[in-house]
Amino acid sequence: MYSDIKAAVMGSINMDIILSASRLPEVGENVLGSEYSYACGGKGANQAIGLSRLGAETRMIGKVADDVNGNKLLENLVNNNVDISGISKEGTSTGLAAILIDGEGRNRIIVYESANAEIVPEEAASFITDDIDMLLVQFETREDAVIKCVNTAKEKGIITVVDCGPAKNFALEKMQGITIITPNENETEALTGIFPVDEETALRASEILFGRCSPEYVVLKLGVRGCSVFDGKSIHFLPSYPTEVRDTTAAGDSFTAALALEYKRSGDIMKASDFANRAGSIAVSRVGAQNSMPTAQELLNVQKN
Ligand code: RIB
Repeated sequence: MYSDIKAAVMGSINMDIILSASRLPEVGENVLGSEYSYACGGKGANQAIGLSRLGAETRMIGKVADDVNGNKLLENLVNNNVDISGISKEGTSTGLAAILIDGEGRNRIIVYESANAEIVPEEAASFITDDIDMLLVQFETREDAVIKCVNTAKEKGIITVVDCGPAKNFALEKMQGITIITPNENETEALTGIFPVDEETALRASEILFGRCSPEYVVLKLGVRGCSVFDGKSIHFLPSYPTEVRDTTAAGDSFTAALALEYKRSGDIMKASDFANRAGSIAVSRVGAQNSMPTAQELLNVQKN
């Protein structure tokens, strides 16, 4: 379905340490966990594997250190058919994320950026070659590297999809004319000052984002409520697909990968957003980041209820 699409992702590559407990500790409190695991993660690498699982030819651009975690992460990307020629091995340590999951599948994440923060803008942009159809970026690497890569892709006429995680205010004004910007609720608040609680606030926040970087589309990820699509004139809401929530980690990454690929394939933003909702619902029903990414067939199989 997507095998003729060539995608690139510039972003973070982290080893995730995942700890689950029925409830998370208050300040100064110690609670007993129910399980733990190590998993390959990082918003960039998750999205690269999301694209590859869906069938796209995918290149990852980023940085890891030459350490145990870095080597494991590279091996995992290769095993998932991701081209790692855009990843350099440098730096003191590989990125690390501590992910705490509560009894309702909600997470809290602390990321130690490490090698991800050492990506050199010009070096990263050099891997965005003319044969690439679309570029995905997030905000978990250096801001100047994100801006440089997005603007390089735009100059080459490549579709640019900006996932705004993790939540922070970012110089969106420096990447005008991107194709799709897609923040979640917290990221929307960090970028606009508005938490999208209802249709009116989603519209106001979308208008602000539109004004800041003139995208073709603003697609807000609204969690269990699904997503909204704003094209500069009107906003439309698409409901999520009901599922049992086990772990929300990387649901946004899965959403962004499916959104970007289906938009590139069909040029239909509503269809792409519906596919993104499907991908998100599959990802939250599975524990972990990269191993929760669906295949294209699984997206097609998702039922409304
Ligand atoms: O989006 C989920 C990811 O955020 C995790 O894999 C973790 O590495 C953090 O970057």
